Amino acid sequence: MKNKKMTRREALRNLGLLTAGVFAFSPSVMACATKTQDNKSIDKATPSPVGALALPAVPIATLSNGVKLPRLGLGTFLQPDNDVCKASCLAALKAGYRHIDTAHAYNDEEGVGRAIMESGIPREEICLVSKLWVSDYGADGHTLKAIDEMLARLQTDYVDVLYVHQPVGEVLAAWKEMEQAYKQGKVKALGISNFDYPDPECDAIFDEIVKNSEIKPHIMQVECHPYAQRLDVKKKIAPYNLQLECWYPLGGKWSNGVILKDEVINKIASARGKSAAQIILRWHLQEGHSAIPGSTNPAHIQENINIFDFELTDDEMAQIRALNKEQRLYTATYQQTKGFANGPRM
Ligand SMILES: NC(=O)c1ccc[n+]([C@@H]2O[C@H](COP(=O)([O-])OP(=O)(O)OC[C@H]3O[C@@H](n4cnc5c(N)ncnc54)[C@H](OP(=O)(O)O)[C@@H]3O)[C@@H](O)[C@H]2O)c1
Repeated sequence: MKNKKMTRREALRNLGLLTAGVFAFSPSVMACATKTQDNKSIDKATPSPVGALALPAVPIATLSNGVKLPRLGLGTFLQPDNDVCKASCLAALKAGYRHIDTAHAYNDEEGVGRAIMESGIPREEICLVSKLWVSDYGADGHTLKAIDEMLARLQTDYVDVLYVHQPVGEVLAAWKEMEQAYKQGKVKALGISNFDYPDPECDAIFDEIVKNSEIKPHIMQVECHPYAQRLDVKKKIAPYNLQLECWYPLGGKWSNGVILKDEVINKIASARGKSAAQIILRWHLQEGHSAIPGSTNPAHIQENINIFDFELTDDEMAQIRALNKEQRLYTATYQQTKGFANGPRM
């Protein structure tokens, strides 16, 4: 690819980013909110710009409405506070992440917003993803107000993906107002999260949204990792053109690193000179997943995106697939989750 001549404004912007320790990249590789085609597809790796400003070659998913989403992002669940979250996001943006996943329930959207502002990276070059909590659901403008409040916390006028965090409470009323926000341009794509409880009521809500809503969801977020590869969920969502985004991609903080310690994964890691986390994340991407590993550790954040100089072989992929035991590591039931509808935020 030929390097484009920079305008003075771009040059100044890049200089600012470099002094802030954050690299910019050419608008020609901009991923977010770009409408290019009608059907979701898994694109090849993002073309990297030349020279010192090159970004990691994170593959891009094109959602069913054309919105493009880098398939590796930073998760922000359990960041201890907004200041730590801001530092984690800045470390990620510096390392080349352009997708950040947050939620009202995480109490760290302000930190994410501050990081994006301070990075100096143009807003349209970052995929910002958040989730409405159950207390945000409701008709008569309740959810629209919650969306405006979210945008204020994030210091932005749109999010790239907005999820309903849980399929409980007034979720169908919330969806109708999310559709309005989508039409107003405050949200570029709509997502459903945790619509995978084995419960007929949850199934009915899933069916209502994927089959009968005016604006159908573009993406679904569920727990997914080598020990719970969610083969049934994949089968269930296949007709609806939903990108699968994996939370707990490494097994989550509360798992005591059980998947990171797995013998098969560590054998592959040693043979490859990579870490277990890198092998797991590479597996996710080669499976076509979007993965959002969470971390507060800048070394881990950097390590987790340094996965584009190798490819797992068919045999290595098969070894990791064979680890599947559909063992969820987060085990709240639908009935327990329904209790959240009347409770406070997480
Ligand atoms: N929709 C939902 O209901 C839902 C639920 C849960 C999570 N999520 C989203 O999904 C994201 C990912 O899930 P998660 O953060 O809970 O779990 P995760 O990404 O599977 O695991 C995070 C844990 O892994 C550690 N870690 C990260 N990189 C590592 C590395 N290279 N080597 C060793 N340890 C490493 C982190 O510790 P350090 O901080 O020390 O690196 C942290 O303890 C969340 O952050 C959140 O954005 C969504």
